[in-house]
Amino acid sequence: MEAVKIRESIYWTGVKDWNLEEFHGYKTPNGSTYNSYLILDEKIALIDGAKHYLSHQNIARVKSVIDFSKIDYIIVNHVEMDHSGNIPELVKLAPQATIVTNSAGKMALEAHFDTEGWNFQIIKTGDVLSLGKRNLTFVTTPLLHWPDSMMTYCPEEKILFSNDGFGQHYCANTIWVKEAPFDIVCNEAKSYYANILYPYGMQAQKALNTASELNLDIEMIATGHGCIWEGKEEVSWILNSYAKWASAQNDGSAVVVYDTMWGATAKLAETITSVFEDAGIRVVKRSLSNKHIAEVMTDILEAKYVVIGTPTLNNELFPRVAAFVTYLKGLAPKNKKGFAFASYGWKPGVVNKIQAVMEELKWDTIAPFEEKYTPKSDVLEKLKEHTKTIFD
Ligand SMILES: Cc1cc2nc3c(=O)[nH]c(=O)nc-3n(C[C@H](O)[C@H](O)[C@H](O)COP(=O)(O)O)c2cc1C
Ligand SMILES: [Fe+2]
Ligand SMILES: [Fe+2]
Repeated sequence: MEAVKIRESIYWTGVKDWNLEEFHGYKTPNGSTYNSYLILDEKIALIDGAKHYLSHQNIARVKSVIDFSKIDYIIVNHVEMDHSGNIPELVKLAPQATIVTNSAGKMALEAHFDTEGWNFQIIKTGDVLSLGKRNLTFVTTPLLHWPDSMMTYCPEEKILFSNDGFGQHYCANTIWVKEAPFDIVCNEAKSYYANILYPYGMQAQKALNTASELNLDIEMIATGHGCIWEGKEEVSWILNSYAKWASAQNDGSAVVVYDTMWGATAKLAETITSVFEDAGIRVVKRSLSNKHIAEVMTDILEAKYVVIGTPTLNNELFPRVAAFVTYLKGLAPKNKKGFAFASYGWKPGVVNKIQAVMEELKWDTIAPFEEKYTPKSDVLEKLKEHTKTIFD
């Protein structure tokens, strides 16, 4: 198991998780990687570790280049276990190494592991660590993805080691975006943002601003997951996309999401979808019995309109819709227009639970729509007229 050279004396020493299908509740059909990087200079630095159960790959790739006793610094950009699960093992192999992280990173390492005897160097945004010919400078990016998250930049190489930022859950033979199918990688990057970083748009904008204030000239974004962005087109695609997603811009499209037991809510969903189609608006209709909530969130990221429907089950939302609405509330998309719809048998009202979440998210809403049992054609006509008022 060999390291992969990414620049003179800089190596990818990460691990591949081909079989990963789920990542804390988020569906990952293309697996993932946990990327670690090794820089050989007068001082030697290892950037990030890996998930514990794949530690052997990380260790073998480092050993293919250098002995652990030579490592001076282990840089911990993020303490979540996908990047730091094997840090204790790495420290055992390289007890002489100094752990370089920010103060929140040190606290989180102490809360996860027995760090007795570890050497720490605590850094903050703008601090510089000299390795010899190369320097590393740090940008803390709190909440992208945890309070401890940070990125490491090497000005001489113009490489940003971005950890969770700009990542994709994608595993392939190549470690380069330019050698992978661009549409799949881009969709995974979009899905990653929608399902992991969505609530932190403000922090993402702040991080992008800090990067431009520090005049970071970036030729390569060496992520913590998936493939490395290298090349003008690739790097600008991902930076522009983050700027767009973080500022909640939309592409004018619509998502109609629902579930159904006996088809009544499905009829309402179909009617609403047809209104968007007739208005020439790109729309997707997603039944939660077929689509995972993570896929629907990816659809929602760039959408302008989001309409959500449920059957009534024991006075409650249908459980898959409830799960989706809880997930949506946590990810907190902004600047959407929408309304809720429902079918009930004998007691109306569950529709308001969805509408309340939309209002909490400060969406621009029109009134909810609900109907007893299966809607007849006159009701569907009424629903059409109601849906059209969303364009007012
Ligand atoms: C197991 C079950 C429980 C239900 N519980 C309620 C209920 O508590 N209140 C209500 O008004 N309707 C209830 N209904 C009626 C459904 O909400 C109604 O049939 C609705 O049209 C179903 O929509 P669907 O065809 O999209 O599944 C229940 C139906 C089923 C099958
Ligand atoms: Fe993370
Ligand atoms: Fe991660």
